[in-house]
Amino acid sequence: MQVDTREINSIIQKHGAKRQALVPLLQEIQSLLNWLPEQALETVAEKLQIPLRDVYGVATFYRSFSLVPRGKHTITVCVGTACHVRGGPRIVDALSQELNIKPNETTPDMYFTLETVNCLGCCAIGPVVVVDGEYHGEMTAQKTLSIIRNIKKGDKNDST
Ligand code: FES
Repeated sequence: MQVDTREINSIIQKHGAKRQALVPLLQEIQSLLNWLPEQALETVAEKLQIPLRDVYGVATFYRSFSLVPRGKHTITVCVGTACHVRGGPRIVDALSQELNIKPNETTPDMYFTLETVNCLGCCAIGPVVVVDGEYHGEMTAQKTLSIIRNIKKGDKNDST
């Protein structure tokens, strides 16, 4: 994936090319691209004049940063024990089939990333699915598919 260096440079300019700006800077790049490509990290290291390994150190320390490509929308299905017995894996299977990807993969059009997690701390409402940070309890495969189909429809309508 080709990174637009001008966009990265303008983010750096906005925050200032100083070490203290590293985290907010990476956050903004992550929110722009949904992940932190190597090329972007190299540009940041160069402009801030800090070793690339330090930039990687921060990028790998925070869970919210991703060093692998992520889709525009993230779907996280809980497969912890409570959600597992209530059908979490069936939701994962249905999504895998619908999106044609396995868990922890992203669709080739960079639209959806499918993840699984082992407990989100709200077992009583399981199975739980988180779509773009929004929690949905007592989910079924059908309800989850309908959410992602609505997202697709909504995005399509937004772009027309
Ligand atoms: S097991 Fe799914 S929220 Fe705890």
